[in-house]
Amino acid sequence: MTAKNMFDVSGKAVIVTGAASGIGRAIAEVMAESGARVALLDQDEEGLDAAAADLRKLGADPITRKVDVSDRVPMRKAIDAAVEHFGGLDIVFANAGISSGPGFLNSDGTENASGEIERVSDALWDRVLAVNLNAVFTTIQRAAFHMKAQRSGRIVVTTSVASFRAESWVGTPYMPAKAGAAHLVRQAALELARYNITVNAIAPGAFATNIGDGQLKVPAVSVAMGKRIPLGRVAQPEEVKGLALFLASPASAFITGAEIQIDGGSSLGR
Ligand SMILES: NC(=O)c1ccc[n+]([C@@H]2O[C@H](COP(=O)([O-])OP(=O)(O)OC[C@H]3O[C@@H](n4cnc5c(N)ncnc54)[C@H](O)[C@@H]3O)[C@@H](O)[C@H]2O)c1
Repeated sequence: MTAKNMFDVSGKAVIVTGAASGIGRAIAEVMAESGARVALLDQDEEGLDAAAADLRKLGADPITRKVDVSDRVPMRKAIDAAVEHFGGLDIVFANAGISSGPGFLNSDGTENASGEIERVSDALWDRVLAVNLNAVFTTIQRAAFHMKAQRSGRIVVTTSVASFRAESWVGTPYMPAKAGAAHLVRQAALELARYNITVNAIAPGAFATNIGDGQLKVPAVSVAMGKRIPLGRVAQPEEVKGLALFLASPASAFITGAEIQIDGGSSLGR
């Protein structure tokens, strides 16, 4: 295989959830730039339209579907519709996710009483688990249904460094949701390997996106956060593109069940 072929995803049918913003939008972009056929799923219709318009400028012909990934029946239908449109399914990015608000400390280290464990509402717990864990299950489950039939596929889940490391400034429900998603990746990888389907995770550190009310896009917050990161800064969404393309392409054919950190070294410690 030539170096060029290693990263060839041209013509592949790809679904990206949470594609209207941030990391998912960048993933959709690198797939489209690489000649893949892309379905953008998100609950934000305006954001979807804007993302699709940008991809069309690159010469791509994306389809979009407004869906709440945590609504199981509509979500399965959205995946089925994309498969029908493309005539198959090669790559799925289960990326949509939400924050659970600040933790028991704010990002500047001051106390945040509203983030303490006894103040976490049932509604917040349920919503974060529904979007960040249950919906990943629904996505993997339905993607596997289609990929098993063709005996090939790539599934990539966006987890977080929070899946393996506790953080005072991140709200409690986010932690077990992401840890659950990371372990689901390993279990699904084990089961689906015999069908030539790989399942891996991208574990971002701090990326300047719209999550958490776009806090990491606020210059003062971004600079303060950057000081805690060995590479000295937060990442821009485009910086996920290389890893996303790697995990979707033949270059990573023998990698499954992996969770790859993309965090500027932040999980190394301070
Ligand atoms: N930005 C970071 O620092 C960071 C760090 C670690 C992990 N992550 C993870 O990266 C993923 C992408 O987040 P991002 O940072 O790009 O945030 P973002 O808010 O910029 O983008 C998330 C997208 O997901 C969509 N979405 C949210 N809930 C949805 C739902 N129920 N149904 C359909 N769409 C939904 C949003 O509309 C949005 O377009 C998430 O899983 C997040 O947990 C982000």
